[in-house]
Amino acid sequence: MRKKVINSSGFPEKFTSVSPDGEVFALPQESDYKKENNRLKKLVKEQRLKGREIVVVMGVGFVGAVMAGVVADAEDKKSGKPKYFVIGMQRPSTRSFWKIPYMNRGISPVEAEDPEVAPMIARCVNEKKTLAATFTYDVLSLADVIVVDVQCDYHKETFGDCREGYADIAALEDSLKVIGDKIDPDCLILIETTVPPGTTEYVAYPIIKKAFEKRGLKDAEPLLSHSFERVMPGRNYVASVRDFWRVCSGINETARERVTKFLTNVLNVEKFPLTVLEKPIESETCKIVENSYRATLLAFIDEWSVFAERNGVDLTKVIEAIKVRPTHSNILFPGPGIGGYCLPKDGGLGVWAYQTLMGFEDDIFKITPLAIDINDTRSLRAVQLARDALRNMGKIVAASKVTVLGASYRQDVGDTRYSGSEIIVRKLTEMGAEIRAHDPYVKHWWELEKQDTYPAPGHSWARFFRNQENLTELRMSKSLPGALEGSDAVILAVRHKDYLSLAPDDVVKMAGKPLAVIDCFGILNDDDIRRYFELGCEVKGLGRGHIQRIKEKAKKQGR
Ligand SMILES: NC(=O)c1ccc[n+]([C@@H]2O[C@H](COP(=O)([O-])OP(=O)(O)OC[C@H]3O[C@@H](n4cnc5c(N)ncnc54)[C@H](O)[C@@H]3O)[C@@H](O)[C@H]2O)c1
Repeated sequence: MRKKVINSSGFPEKFTSVSPDGEVFALPQESDYKKENNRLKKLVKEQRLKGREIVVVMGVGFVGAVMAGVVADAEDKKSGKPKYFVIGMQRPSTRSFWKIPYMNRGISPVEAEDPEVAPMIARCVNEKKTLAATFTYDVLSLADVIVVDVQCDYHKETFGDCREGYADIAALEDSLKVIGDKIDPDCLILIETTVPPGTTEYVAYPIIKKAFEKRGLKDAEPLLSHSFERVMPGRNYVASVRDFWRVCSGINETARERVTKFLTNVLNVEKFPLTVLEKPIESETCKIVENSYRATLLAFIDEWSVFAERNGVDLTKVIEAIKVRPTHSNILFPGPGIGGYCLPKDGGLGVWAYQTLMGFEDDIFKITPLAIDINDTRSLRAVQLARDALRNMGKIVAASKVTVLGASYRQDVGDTRYSGSEIIVRKLTEMGAEIRAHDPYVKHWWELEKQDTYPAPGHSWARFFRNQENLTELRMSKSLPGALEGSDAVILAVRHKDYLSLAPDDVVKMAGKPLAVIDCFGILNDDDIRRYFELGCEVKGLGRGHIQRIKEKAKKQGR
């Protein structure tokens, strides 16, 4: 591996990988592989002498990086000594290679609000010496356990119709092919990636079995297992991996026993017992159903949100009133769309599997895809409210400066994948607004800045809207006053804690004039709303039909 290249000149961009902090790393050259393989062999030999098993985590993204840390941090319950040596394996792509040198220094490749993440990675790499990272697939031949945490995307072809889409299992298939070519047949393969139900048996098994046969391992049965992640990147990131209930399954009895033992060793199963299901398709379906259930709960409220807006109802209060019933305590108020990496896609993986992997032609799915479509398009309503509020102030979107507060998909995290805020920005941009964006957790909004290549070339949501070209120039405002100065409208898009207690007087002061205020997430209380009207602002909110009453009262009192 080459050393850090301060100045990338001499290294064309396609041969380098740049970390979010701007540090440039040259991608490994052919000659680097031999050196790296020798380093790994030596490391693994030392670790085996210590009685540790070798775990390779493939894909050190949001899930893999933290899972690698959790396994490396696990200690034998009797001796208190580490049981595993973990090697995070990451393909050396321009987008992701930097994660390897970062991890090898003990720096977490994922930014997290959870104060446990960074010290856990640093502790495992530098003190316990139970964690390292590499770019070479050859590491797979050294593993006792492989944990697969690569992505599996669902690409939508149209905006608001997820049936027009397909599961992209190519990265997963590529990983499985290399695994089959390289591993010892006794190695346990644990697929954690959220996959279309059936993938472990119908896709992974044949790939690995064939690779074994090619290698002359005719009688070897792949030890394949599946256990999906319920990780929530946020304040309880590590705990959501380690201290949380897990479901697992294996393709045969040996695999089932091995995966149960492995997860028992690394997770807090005393407090959060494992559920062992018989077949991988059951564990795979479990993930898809639980996420589709959640997506449906959120989508269901959308129509009642519009009902509330048009009939003087404050839906946030209605939901709080319903929540007191223990049977209804998980009813949710949705923000402007349901983002994140999982909920917008997982149901699609299920529908795709039914037709593509299992070969059914009938259409049994009604609610699951509809829920995704409703959630994907909910944010457009926020844009309509902004348009109407501006109109009530005698302005049009096309001549307005609009500030969006919150770019991530949920409160107090910096993950911007498929956030409702992105659609808000795109639609307002299409309508001609000048956009400013602020988010205390987001330094770069890559979905916009790098829309030509992010999330993958040809897959940006930019393609569903016109007039998007200049969004590559949008930079996150560093301060709230800077973001708000001169704005005609502010969209409160995410319930970040910094935004919950914003005083109307301060907002208007920062803007320098009364502005349109759009509350997408039940952020404003009635006093705030009244105060905004007193200050000459216009207020609208998703599901907040009672605002009109407050407005009329404020008007009467003002006379
Ligand atoms: N992010 C979440 O909140 C969350 C929650 C639960 C489940 N999941 C599931 O976990 C899986 C992983 O998600 P993520 O958020 O970590 O994705 P991610 O995109 O952050 O990470 C995937 C990583 O795998 C790497 N990779 C891809 N192909 C590879 C290969 N052949 N060899 C080695 N590395 C490879 C990528 O470069 C990337 O670093 C997905 O199936 C997702 O649905 C995610």
